[in-house]
Order: sequence, then structure tokens, then C-alpha cells
Amino acid sequence: MDVFSSVFRSARPPVAIVGAGAVGRVMALRLADAGYPIRAVVSRTGSRADALARVVGAPVAAASLDAIPRDVALVLLCVPDDQLADVAETLTGVRLVWADVVVAHTSGAVTSEVLEPVEAEGASVLSFHPLQSLTRADDASALEGAYIGLEGPPRGIAAGIELAVGLGMRYVVIPAEAKPRYHLAAAMASNFLVTLLGMVQEVLASLDIDRRDGLAMLEPLLRGTMDNLASRGPEEALTGPVVRGDVETLRSHGLALRQHLPQLVPAYAALSVEAVRLAVRSGRLDPARAEDVLALLQRMVTTPLPPKGTDRPPVPPSVEAG
Ligand SMILES: NC(=O)c1ccc[n+]([C@@H]2O[C@H](COP(=O)([O-])OP(=O)(O)OC[C@H]3O[C@@H](n4cnc5c(N)ncnc54)[C@H](OP(=O)(O)O)[C@@H]3O)[C@@H](O)[C@H]2O)c1
Repeated sequence: MDVFSSVFRSARPPVAIVGAGAVGRVMALRLADAGYPIRAVVSRTGSRADALARVVGAPVAAASLDAIPRDVALVLLCVPDDQLADVAETLTGVRLVWADVVVAHTSGAVTSEVLEPVEAEGASVLSFHPLQSLTRADDASALEGAYIGLEGPPRGIAAGIELAVGLGMRYVVIPAEAKPRYHLAAAMASNFLVTLLGMVQEVLASLDIDRRDGLAMLEPLLRGTMDNLASRGPEEALTGPVVRGDVETLRSHGLALRQHLPQLVPAYAALSVEAVRLAVRSGRLDPARAEDVLALLQRMVTTPLPPKGTDRPPVPPSVEAG
């Protein structure tokens, strides 16, 4: 393939969106904003396809892939991961000039190999994963500054680069065998941050601080931390008792957790161990002091909790069940 030639016949190829959920909606809006004609929206629920088609001016809305018009040059599959294989197989029954068609899916975890049925028909395939956390309430601006993770054979990647550039987005190319680790990084960054703040909310609730007030109170701290992370990276952004080797403060955290929030002890200790590794790596925590911190954390998880009804306040049933 000539690397300078375009995969698409036109700068803004006609598109069919399959799956009118969170990603389908945001991608359709972004594509339409960037001047890509959305020819069709197909989704399992016809009314949902209809609603999105109206917003992006697509002339065709349907619950069946058969409705995809013949002039479509890009089919973007925004369906759940476990639907991709079936949809790719069903797509082969649609009468398109496959050699002129690019089929992409938006999964971060599944490789482009799942699109093998349409690739066998002659289509170029790739995965085109928006590296962003998206909900059905989001609009095109949710993709502002976001990267696209691209994976697939060379012609698919070339199409993905054209598309990412056309959408004004940045991209990163991921080898197929590295996709699980790529998705792991994305899931840890987004899901663990959310989970961590869920834990912080529990701590604040134990102080009778309203959940909303609690998050508002922490927002400047979170923003400052994100700014430090972006400008200096994790090694320099780490502050607090672990990097200072402040064993006494860590001991007081451990006691507070054991007394009021014992369910959080294992997660606190595990994250603190990672903070120790980061602090030593940064050269700011002396390895000998790190051993003292690790020994304290080890005791935190191995010392049995006092039986209920002694120095341990009752845990709300919802927390206990969760
Ligand atoms: N949400 C995120 O933050 C995010 C970010 C990056 C990538 N992704 C990936 O993007 C893909 C879509 O995720 P999503 O969050 O947009 O999911 P979603 O909100 O659940 O939307 C999926 C859509 O696909 C439709 N659908 C399901 N099965 C179908 C089928 N067999 N044929 C046609 N349409 C079908 C659903 O139908 P109806 O609603 O019409 O019933 C729904 O509208 C997944 O691969 C996901 O891993 C998600």
C-alpha cells in the first residue's frame, strides 16, 4: 500500500453508525460536526436509532443492518463487546462493495480480529477506541482532547489515522497483543479513580459530611493533584505521609480505619504499598524507612479486627452487604 494514498475515496466519507448508545451518540455527533455525512443509524431498538438519526440528520434509521445504504464507506460499530462477533457476521449479508468499505469497532478490549467475517469479504478493518469515559448524556465535546486507540492491519490503521485527523483527534497505535494491557491502563485510570472516590465518600459519610458537600470540598484538591500529575508525573506529584515516611500518621490512619471503616483496611494497605514503591522510585523515600512503613502496613492487614460490639461501631447494613 502506498502510505501517502488515502484509504477513503473522499475526505469526508459517508458513514453508518451501528449502536445508538453512549459511544454511538457521541461519535455520530462528532462526525457530523466535522462534516462527515451520517447516512444511517442502525440500533437494536428502532426508536433509539430514530432519535439519533434525527439529531445528526441521517436519512436512514433502522433496527436492521440491511438498511445500510450502498454508498456508505465507513461502518462504525458502537455495540457492546459481546455483540461484535454476531454483528460482524450479520454484516456480511449486507450488499455493500466491501473493497471500498472500512469497518471499525469502538471497543478498547476486543481486537479487530473479531471483524474477520467482513475482512474476508474484502473490507478494511480496525478498532477505533475513543479513550474517554462516555455516558448517554454526553455530547461531541466529551471527545475534546481525547485520544483514539487504533489497532488493526496496516490498511485499517491508515483509515483510522485519516479518520482521527479528520475529527481533530489525537491517536495512538496499539499492537493487537498489547490491547489487554492498553485497556487495563484505561480501566485502571478511570474505574479505579471513581472507586477510590467512592471510598473517600464513605470516609466523609462516617464524619456526617453530606456526600455532595464532601465531593465539592475535595474538588480543589483533586484538580490541584491532576494539574501536578499532568505537569510533573506521579513520582513528583505524590505528597502525604507515605512519601514523607511518616509512620505515626499512617498508624493513626490505620487505627481510624479499624475503628470506623474496617472494610476499607485491605484497600488502604494495598494502595499504600504501591505508594511506597512510587515514593522509593522517586528517590524521595529512603529504602530503610520504606521497610518501616511496609512493616506497619503488613500489621494493619494481619492484625485481626476486634469482634463486633467491642471497640468497633456497627457497620451500616448496605456497606456490610456491598
Ligand atoms: N461508554 C464508554 O465510556 C466507552 C468508551 C470507549 C469505548 N466503549 C466501547 O464502545 C462500545 C459501545 O459501548 P457503549 O458504552 O456505547 O454501550 P451502550 O451505551 O450500551 O450502547 C450500545 C448500543 O448498541 C446497541 N446494540 C446492542 N446490540 C446490538 C445489536 N446486536 N445490533 C445493533 N445494535 C445493538 C444498543 O441498542 P439499543 O439501545 O438500541 O437497544 C445500544 O444502543 C463497546 O464496545 C464499549 O466497550 C465504551
